[in-house]
Amino acid sequence: MSVEKDIVKRFETTYVLDDGRMVVFRPLKPEEDVEMLYQFYSSLSKEKNYFRFLSYRKVTRWIVEEWANINYYKSMALVALVKNGESIKIVADSRYFLDRETGAAEIAIVVHNDWQHKGIGTNLLLHTIKVAKEMGVKKIFAYVSPENRKIIRIGKRLGFTTKWYPEMGEYGGELILSE
Ligand SMILES: CC(C)(COP(=O)(O)OP(=O)(O)OC[C@H]1O[C@@H](n2cnc3c(N)ncnc32)[C@H](O)[C@@H]1OP(=O)(O)O)[C@@H](O)C(=O)NCCC(=O)NCCS
Repeated sequence: MSVEKDIVKRFETTYVLDDGRMVVFRPLKPEEDVEMLYQFYSSLSKEKNYFRFLSYRKVTRWIVEEWANINYYKSMALVALVKNGESIKIVADSRYFLDRETGAAEIAIVVHNDWQHKGIGTNLLLHTIKVAKEMGVKKIFAYVSPENRKIIRIGKRLGFTTKWYPEMGEYGGELILSE
């Protein structure tokens, strides 16, 4: 089995929504998932895009190809997938980028507008934290806009310590995974 297939299999899990529908969380497949990833990012609302990137980011196919280009070790992305008949789509993307020298990884997540408030954000973040831990990440951190009360509440519930950085005008959240 190739390394890619092995990692995808190892970190695939299912989350069941309140209405019984299944959402699959699994590592992004760099080549196979590009089109779905483009459809996902290009259909996000401006607000979601802004909160995800801390400023509005234009989504082009070329940029999405870059975002799909992960290697699972330094850069990891986990997507949430739902099936509708024969078609499958990405409804959330959570990712981290590891600094190998410090063992710290910056994390970011976005859930599609049509799929929010169903527990996907919280549970995909939890799964990302589990994956990061197993992949040897020591600490995860994120910077978020102070207006982004939702992710600040989620982060606090998951054990992140938060700190206000006035010079940046952003909140920083941090979670230690191992000493
Ligand atoms: C922040 C974000 C990731 C949250 O995603 P989400 O899937 O809506 O998150 P959840 O559903 O887990 O939680 C959101 C709320 O729904 C509630 N909820 C969770 N499961 C629920 C369920 N089954 N039914 C109803 N509500 C539920 C949560 O308690 C939470 O409530 P709160 O806002 O009062 O604290 C999403 O809004 C998003 O993509 N924002 C833009 C990007 C962003 O801000 N990223 C973070 C910085 S990188």
